Amino acid sequence: MSPAFGGCSANAVSAEGGLAPIAELRSQRFAIPRYKNQVDGAVMDKIVIDGGIRLKGNIEVSGAKNAALPILAATLLTDKKCVIKNVPNLRDVSTMLKILRSLGIRCWMSDHEVIIEPKTLKNCVASYKLVSTMRASICVLGPLLAKYKQARVSMPGGCIIGQRPVDLHIKGLKSLGAAIKIEHGYIVAAAKKLRGANIFLGGAYGSSVLATANVLMCACLAHGRTLIENAACEPEIVDLAVFLNKMGAKIKGQGTPSITVDGVKCLEGATHSVIPDRIEAGTHILASAITGGQLIVQKAKIEHLSALVDKLDQVGVKVKAYKNGDIHVKRKGKVLKPVDITTLPYPGFPTDMQAQMMSLLALGDGISVLTEKIFPDRFMHVSELNRMGADIFLEGASAIVKGVKRLSGAEVMASDLRASAALVLAGLVAKGRTEISRIYHLDRGYERIEEKLAKVGARIQRVKEI
Ligand code: UD1
Repeated sequence: MSPAFGGCSANAVSAEGGLAPIAELRSQRFAIPRYKNQVDGAVMDKIVIDGGIRLKGNIEVSGAKNAALPILAATLLTDKKCVIKNVPNLRDVSTMLKILRSLGIRCWMSDHEVIIEPKTLKNCVASYKLVSTMRASICVLGPLLAKYKQARVSMPGGCIIGQRPVDLHIKGLKSLGAAIKIEHGYIVAAAKKLRGANIFLGGAYGSSVLATANVLMCACLAHGRTLIENAACEPEIVDLAVFLNKMGAKIKGQGTPSITVDGVKCLEGATHSVIPDRIEAGTHILASAITGGQLIVQKAKIEHLSALVDKLDQVGVKVKAYKNGDIHVKRKGKVLKPVDITTLPYPGFPTDMQAQMMSLLALGDGISVLTEKIFPDRFMHVSELNRMGADIFLEGASAIVKGVKRLSGAEVMASDLRASAALVLAGLVAKGRTEISRIYHLDRGYERIEEKLAKVGARIQRVKEI
């Protein structure tokens, strides 16, 4: 097996372009991001924002990245054609499609629809080159093992938001009967026969989303019944289970900490539309709140946003869903009240919203404490927000946020996906110009964010970095 993997070169900086004068920026059409080049690392763009505009209008949410990725991996469980709709056009999605292609599978994406014909699989190897660019690649491990009884998937390694162990993935798959060893940086898994088992999937920080996804997918083709306890309850896991059941799996209890899977002999092809992205929706809600605007967030599910909506109510931001599904966001008054938040697995406050919420609370009328219980080191955005005038200091896994009257535009650097979104939010309200570099992180998880925000009034532009 010698797959020909497409390479992701180092992040080269484009030599052309540069910052346009502000008047020119305002009059320019907003260019569509060049996802292909960004995937290849050939272009490193930056976002330029002139803050201070109250956002107003309708903004649409794309499909959920974190649901689409395991669902695309789950198509490995069948030989039959699958059609996945409402797939966001993101760098992480194209990385997952590259992985599927590197396994020999034919897949196409056009207009948010992915068609996959999995019967042409040629090997079971997910290389370091691809896995190292996106941790979610690990969710090909469970399906490959289930269907082909073997898998060789690169260890994802750590990342900027902290240690990212895979012990729960390995524990779960071993319980199903797989022999697993770590060899030359790869997780090498094999099984003669997979058998259902009772598996407790809790780790030091609670449940694991992708470990639940991996074990769930693998258990679908195992012999007999599997009970996953302390399973992740995230809506993305529910969406994956819905897709698997459409393929003929027998899963019950998704959305609760106890999931039961009765193994079946084979799975069929299926068509599925991915749920809306709750983290993107939450980010737009905060864009409205932080600018004192009045956004209507469309195509989102308010029921996936309860923890955020509750905290925003305490802060002084009204978030209301109407019968047609539209979510209206409006500040109750001028003052943003401070609030304490602890990130927790769903339905608790999502770690993926912590950075963006910090931008809002940086302008609160008092002290807020944000505590990370999922990724204790996920605070890379703090120093960048402080460069914009915020007053935040870290104490262990907590950020003490002393509200300030205003933020001021600055040159800042995006360190990871949600940190990038936090800087965009801060830039939208800051006085003057904010320039955010290394925004390839943003392109991993937000589809055309600058276009969507520009349409509701933001003075935001993507430009090539000099
Ligand atoms: C997923 C999401 C990510 C989100 C995270 C937590 C995707 C593609 N990504 O990541 O956006 O921030 O959930 O909601 O869905 N852990 C272990 N051992 C393991 C696996 C995880 O100890 O084997 C720990 C992690 O270090 C972390 C906690 O469990 O402290 C939760 O992580 P996990 O839910 O696994 O995150 P991901 O599934 O990788």
